[in-house]
Amino acid sequence: MERLTSSAKLMIVSDLDHTMVDHHDPENISLLRFNALWESSYRRDSLLVFSTGRSPTLYKQLRKEKPMLTPDITIMSVGTEITYGNLMVPDGGWEEVLNQKWDRKIVQEETSKFPELSLQSETEQRPHKVSFNVDKSKAQDVTKKLSELLTNRGLDVKIIYSGGMDLDILPQGAGKGQALAYLLNKFKAEGKLPNNTLVCGDSGNDAELFCIPDVYGVMVSNAQEELLLWHAENAKDNPKVIHATERCASGIIQAIGHFGLGPNTSPRDEADLLGSKMENLSPGGEVVRFYLLHEKWRRGEIENSESYITTLEAVCQPPGIFVHPSGVEQSFRECISALKGNHGDQQGKRYRVWVDQVFPTKIGSDTWLVKFQKWEMHVENLT
Ligand code: GLC
Ligand code: MG
Repeated sequence: MERLTSSAKLMIVSDLDHTMVDHHDPENISLLRFNALWESSYRRDSLLVFSTGRSPTLYKQLRKEKPMLTPDITIMSVGTEITYGNLMVPDGGWEEVLNQKWDRKIVQEETSKFPELSLQSETEQRPHKVSFNVDKSKAQDVTKKLSELLTNRGLDVKIIYSGGMDLDILPQGAGKGQALAYLLNKFKAEGKLPNNTLVCGDSGNDAELFCIPDVYGVMVSNAQEELLLWHAENAKDNPKVIHATERCASGIIQAIGHFGLGPNTSPRDEADLLGSKMENLSPGGEVVRFYLLHEKWRRGEIENSESYITTLEAVCQPPGIFVHPSGVEQSFRECISALKGNHGDQQGKRYRVWVDQVFPTKIGSDTWLVKFQKWEMHVENLT
């Protein structure tokens, strides 16, 4: 990544469904906790990599549904597609590697002989990935027979079973683990190998991630049986891999603490958002805290008192300026007075605020310019 001029302090490579994203929590608490931690303490000098089984179509859909951050690198379709940055520029070199001993026509021909396999939606069929649903009880048998048939036809494939229902067929050189190995090699060639790498997953297609040498790993508490079984058989003596006791993104935060990879207290868990000590102040962290306070204020979770506003005004000294993308400038004082009238107006609603891509730059001896995106989620009429 050109953004970083030296090695990343930490590179997190995380699966999305049921790892970064908890589909059983409509409040998205663990994800929002992770987001605040990442933006306040890691965004500037670390790398966030999402590694998902989803195709670009379903990945983009998930980003619309959930309060997700923008990753530096996106690995999709079970490690068969790698893209960089906001604009998701594809890694053409990787696609070429995957063409070896791969012919999706032959895969389609052979798989059509199995009535147990039902094809997934069109969006999930990709140049180097053919995907089906299959019943748990039939998965092992089908995998064995298919792999023989495809080998006999001269292909070298990898068959992965995930989530107790999905069966993916990929070129042998593909997969989440191989995609990560490819990235690490690239970083190494540039002399920018991350200081630490933490991989995070919950299901079968994540197993490979835990085999990459020298990486730390976390299986979140809610990991699937197939991953836990794989771990028991293949990696149980590796002290660098843990099974978290917390679900999804909270399990990731737990692993950061367990392995001592850096700060592991999310600003969302701080009792007093105005309590940052001067010596701990970071420009990015203050932006994260300001919008958290904004959220709590509008949700009515902070008491509406003159003394609170006075303290808030006091911590915003010396005065700063907020520049809206439209060019309109507002002093912090004006921003705070605007808040006064909104106290509790989102009470009982699913209202959340989070910031993404918080990038501070020092522009004077004691002046910082912080660029960021602020997002809000509103859900009316909770029942
Ligand atoms: C995602 C993909 C699906 C794949 C599964 C497991 O759900 O959309 O195609 O089979 O991950 O890798
Ligand atoms: Mg998953």
